[in-house]
Amino acid sequence: MHHPWPPPSFRLLLPFLLSLFLFSLPPSFSDDGYLQLYEACSTRHFPCGSRNISFSYPFSHQDSHPECGYPDTGLSCNTTDDTLTIHIGKKQYRVKDNNIDYANYHLTVVDRDFVGNPCPRPSENTTLGLAPFQYAGDDVNATFFIDCPPSLPSPLFPVACLRDNTAGWWSYYWPGNGSLPDDEMNACGGWFVQVPMNPTAIEQWIHGETNFAQALQEGFTLSWPAEIGDWCSACNSSGGVCGYEYYIPTCFCSDGSATDSSCDKKENRKWCSACNSSGGVCGHDSSKPTCFCSDGPATDGSCDKGKLLHLAQ
Ligand SMILES: *[C@@H]1O[C@H](CO)[C@@H](O)[C@H](O)[C@H]1NC(C)=O
Ligand SMILES: *[C@@H]1O[C@H](CO)[C@@H](O)[C@H](O)[C@H]1NC(C)=O
Ligand SMILES: *[C@@H]1O[C@H](CO)[C@@H](O)[C@H](O)[C@H]1NC(C)=O
Ligand SMILES: *[C@@H]1O[C@H](CO)[C@@H](O)[C@H](O)[C@H]1NC(C)=O
Ligand SMILES: *[C@@H]1O[C@H](CO)[C@@H](O)[C@H](O)[C@H]1NC(C)=O
Ligand SMILES: *[C@@H]1O[C@H](CO)[C@@H](O)[C@H](O)[C@H]1NC(C)=O
Ligand SMILES: *[C@@H]1O[C@H](CO)[C@@H](O)[C@H](O)[C@H]1NC(C)=O
Repeated sequence: MHHPWPPPSFRLLLPFLLSLFLFSLPPSFSDDGYLQLYEACSTRHFPCGSRNISFSYPFSHQDSHPECGYPDTGLSCNTTDDTLTIHIGKKQYRVKDNNIDYANYHLTVVDRDFVGNPCPRPSENTTLGLAPFQYAGDDVNATFFIDCPPSLPSPLFPVACLRDNTAGWWSYYWPGNGSLPDDEMNACGGWFVQVPMNPTAIEQWIHGETNFAQALQEGFTLSWPAEIGDWCSACNSSGGVCGYEYYIPTCFCSDGSATDSSCDKKENRKWCSACNSSGGVCGHDSSKPTCFCSDGPATDGSCDKGKLLHLAQ
């Protein structure tokens, strides 16, 4: 026999039970999952060849829990040549000089596909995914037109090593720093990609002081906001371990609780779980924890309200 679910009596009760759940949580709670993250995310070093690489928030280790750092900041060791690698989007980059400059909040990275390549062929646009990074101020957004007709006029600058005389295709650098020339694009007929580059490296290559491969291997610089470091210092000095959950920075505390500020301000965190799983975005409205839904802030901590009213009928 078919039993409707939930049974009618429960259907009537459900909003009531949920409101109990949402409004009567104890001010502090502990959670085995958060305790595990507190422990797992406190390890911030890994071996790489003969070195012991220490790293700080917002970075994480590629194989650690995703909650240990911001997304798209995963570090790892390339065990072939013992170099520090960062995974951003679907791509891997070598961290130049194995150095992350925490004091000035930046690092320089080189596309893994360009490293050691005598004539790299840029084939993908650079994307940063959900990483908290920004391109450093003076880097150039270099545009390359690939597989175009030969001998296109200046200001398109041919990339000598990418010349394919058999197929009759040349590739060019367009010195537009992100902007695109409509007419040259049409003249090319091929496709283009944009990759960030060091402006000095481009100058040296254009003037024949270095080659194209060397210019690309200078990489580009990414920075992250100092506020992230300030937030983590507050978490750390309250005895917490810095992490990231539900798209916001999260401080894991030694008692198995989690908060988006620091462990001395025990702010209950469960609201964010309900918010996130109802499709909302956890945040703050006039510094009060607020669940933002597609149609504005939720009044009860979750975006499911419409559904609940429907169930109650
Ligand atoms: C690596 O460095 C960390 C501190 O930065 C230290 O706690 C750990 O013991 C070191 N590991 C090794 C194998 O030396
Ligand atoms: C490690 O580095 C080598 C040499 O630079 C490179 O060929 C290889 O693709 C890298 N491996 C990974 C997993 O990045
Ligand atoms: C390239 O453009 C960006 C902004 O789009 C700017 O910040 C940067 O300084 C420019 N780089 C150069 C070398 O002009
Ligand atoms: C380059 O410019 C394009 C178009 O303005 C933009 O979509 C892209 O994000 C920029 N890339 C970088 C690395 O700045
Ligand atoms: C790179 O991005 C531009 C838009 O900024 C797009 O028009 C172009 O097709 C992209 N190139 C590739 C290879 O995806
Ligand atoms: C706080 O950071 C320091 C290094 O900056 C580290 O040694 C310490 O273990 C951190 N505290 C916690 C609780 O993670
Ligand atoms: C939060 O929501 C996103 C999508 O809305 C989902 O991918 C993610 O798994 C959720 N996080 C947790 C911890 O449930």
